[in-house]
Amino acid sequence: MKTAIIGTGYVGLTTGVALAYLGHEVTCLDVDAAKVENLKKGISPIYEPHLDELMKLASRNLKFTLDAGDALRDAEVVFIAVGTPSLPDGNPDLTFLKSAAQSIGEKIASPYVVIVNKSTVPIGSGNWVESIVRDSYRARHAYQGSGFVVASNPEFLREGSALSDMLYADRVVVGADDPKALDVLRKLYQPLLEQTFEAPAFLPRPEGFRAVHFLTSDLQSAELIKYAANAFLALKISFINEISELSEKVGADIQHVSRGIGLDSRIGNRFLQAGIGWGGSCFGKDTAALISTGKEYGLPMPITQAARDVNTRQRARMVEILMSELKILKGRKIGILGLSFKPFTDDLRDAPALEIAKRLLERGAKVVGFDPVSMDRARKEWGETAIELVSNAEAVFSESDAVLLVTEWPQFRTIDFAKCAAQMKNKLILDGRGHLDSTQMNQAGIRLITLGRATR
Ligand code: UGA
Repeated sequence: MKTAIIGTGYVGLTTGVALAYLGHEVTCLDVDAAKVENLKKGISPIYEPHLDELMKLASRNLKFTLDAGDALRDAEVVFIAVGTPSLPDGNPDLTFLKSAAQSIGEKIASPYVVIVNKSTVPIGSGNWVESIVRDSYRARHAYQGSGFVVASNPEFLREGSALSDMLYADRVVVGADDPKALDVLRKLYQPLLEQTFEAPAFLPRPEGFRAVHFLTSDLQSAELIKYAANAFLALKISFINEISELSEKVGADIQHVSRGIGLDSRIGNRFLQAGIGWGGSCFGKDTAALISTGKEYGLPMPITQAARDVNTRQRARMVEILMSELKILKGRKIGILGLSFKPFTDDLRDAPALEIAKRLLERGAKVVGFDPVSMDRARKEWGETAIELVSNAEAVFSESDAVLLVTEWPQFRTIDFAKCAAQMKNKLILDGRGHLDSTQMNQAGIRLITLGRATR
């Protein structure tokens, strides 16, 4: 099927590459000329495992362009995957969405086009997009009311595992008020729903995985599913973090507690990893938007608000624990292991590392940091002043008064801790992700404090 994708960020690019791999003719449109040039050469603008490889395999069906007419003219399905960053009041900024809708109305020419909102948008945006497309479409066509339809198809991809989340999804959710649009999208996703595509060698199909659930609904329900899913995941994390603080007080170990409750199939064991809490571009933005939508209708959303409050508290706790250990932060050297908001991505949006570093800097500490993949981005986005960036994990320990583990990159487990301990001024690690082994730290002569685990 001829498919256009507007926006080549995480969502647009992953969706475009995966659909091209499934056999559709995909054209990705972006306004950033440098990005498009690189994509034409097969260079991805983001670090996402296997994206380059899948892009190569799909290259026969994949085009990148700056020209809206080129992308939209023959498209039967158009995905809108533009950014919707948060405004100060918590509402998403819909400027990019609006201009995407306008150019769709101006350029589409196929007899029936399904316009799919893939960006996370406030509930009701489908109708709003429809009205914008209609206005610019009418200027060119004698409007007969059947040239296009707007659908919602929220994404549930996690950065760092976006491609397997896409190819081996738990479900595909599609909302539209026209049954014909649902049929078009079912056809588009058919190879994925029935798992008839050949799995790439580097992304093998999980054993026993045979089909993907296809859930259809009205437009508003699909839009709300996205927010409700992210808010629920966010509050699951905040819930375990609240229990984790109590764990420390009563002498329990949150990792046992988490396993113990997660084995109850009604609860499930995923997203119960206690620690610093969530970062990234999604949970913060989407929980804020949900609360703001509630407010529009006079409906308070205290559970979602509490999830946000606990999350903010987790970052502050790292600094509080450090203060109670070191007493004075002024003049101390604190190392940070891991800068990206989670492992396997170089994304620094709402990264806990930066907020923690700022709190430490405000208190007069010197902060050095290292990350296996996001150093270039940190240099560009944070500048040199906030955190001194060092070229390897070991350098973070040199002359340090404490090291904080903020992102659970697997390679941090294989650091030569005995060697690093010898270079520390004060042998203390604060593990914000429950990632390091206490016996190994003991043997290296390092005092380890893990969030959620009582210190004995
Ligand atoms: C999240 C959702 O998981 C996706 O389903 C959704 O599509 C995406 O947002 C989005 O709306 O675009 P993402 O933010 O990429 O995906 O990554 P997650 O794996 O969800 O992690 C988010 C944060 O939660 C990370 O900082 C991670 O460290 C933290 N986390 C996750 C925990 O602290 N504990 C956990 O148990 C799981």
